[in-house]
Amino acid sequence: MEYDLQDRTAVVTGAGRGNGERIAKRLAADGARVVVNDLDRDPAVGTVEDIEADGGEATAIAADVSDTEAVDEMFETAADRFGTVDTLVNNAGVGKVQKFTEKPDDTLLDLNLDTHLKGAYHCTRAALDGMTEQGYGNVVNITSIHTKNGIGMSPQYDIGKFSLLGLTKTLALELGREGIRVNAVAPGWVDTRMTETFDDRTREQITDLNPLGRFADPEEIAHAVAFLVSPAADYINGHELRVDGGQQTIDNYKFEGDMSDKF
Ligand SMILES: NC(=O)c1ccc[n+]([C@@H]2O[C@H](COP(=O)([O-])OP(=O)(O)OC[C@H]3O[C@@H](n4cnc5c(N)ncnc54)[C@H](O)[C@@H]3O)[C@@H](O)[C@H]2O)c1
Repeated sequence: MEYDLQDRTAVVTGAGRGNGERIAKRLAADGARVVVNDLDRDPAVGTVEDIEADGGEATAIAADVSDTEAVDEMFETAADRFGTVDTLVNNAGVGKVQKFTEKPDDTLLDLNLDTHLKGAYHCTRAALDGMTEQGYGNVVNITSIHTKNGIGMSPQYDIGKFSLLGLTKTLALELGREGIRVNAVAPGWVDTRMTETFDDRTREQITDLNPLGRFADPEEIAHAVAFLVSPAADYINGHELRVDGGQQTIDNYKFEGDMSDKF
């Protein structure tokens, strides 16, 4: 299924790999001009090359979404190159965690909040003037299955994603009046770099607990984002769309995996 994104300009953060890469490619295939952001330049350039090889339009901008100046500069460059940004996918994410019982210092908490919450906050703020002026905009925040109940072993990540869901809900209320929709996509477990280091036992337990019995392909996350930013979803605002195969959560009492530093 395709959604028409002709004449649209999208920024996708963390789009050098994994979910972001597939989202960027999908939006470009649907007709959008895409700004491919990532902390790392080379993978972002790789995504752009693939999009261009398929006949799409894209440009790579390396920037850390937690750095406000770099973010403001990115949106200025994006507007100069492709015109007003009307579509923003806050996807950049990290998976570094430590159990609370191990008494972690603030480093991992700061990293998770800076990337997931503040990154999305900065990027949405930088996109706001353009979206408000044209009276139209779309923001999709990539949350996680962790926003259901938490999973009891990755507190810094869970807090980052819960707060990103909070940002989604509150901005949907305020920005809806400006013609800007703000939604979230909550992936379950997806085959990306973030999960590739899971050992066999961890993967087995996750798939055992999933009604569909498998991890998601990043393309399946991209489909959901493509729908939410398209005109087909014009009356959907403040919604978190779960793309998790029906998985409710990881059952902390059955799950024996250790998430520390693994994703
Ligand atoms: N893989 C999963 O199972 C899963 C599940 C739920 C949610 N998610 C979310 O999906 C999103 C993408 O994750 P992924 O699985 O594709 O992981 P990934 O590690 O493959 O990709 C994440 C990308 O984000 C970039 N990034 C990290 N920090 C950044 C920053 N400060 N500024 C700009 N770019 C930055 C990385 O360089 C990387 O290219 C994340 O928000 C993640 O939390 C992933």
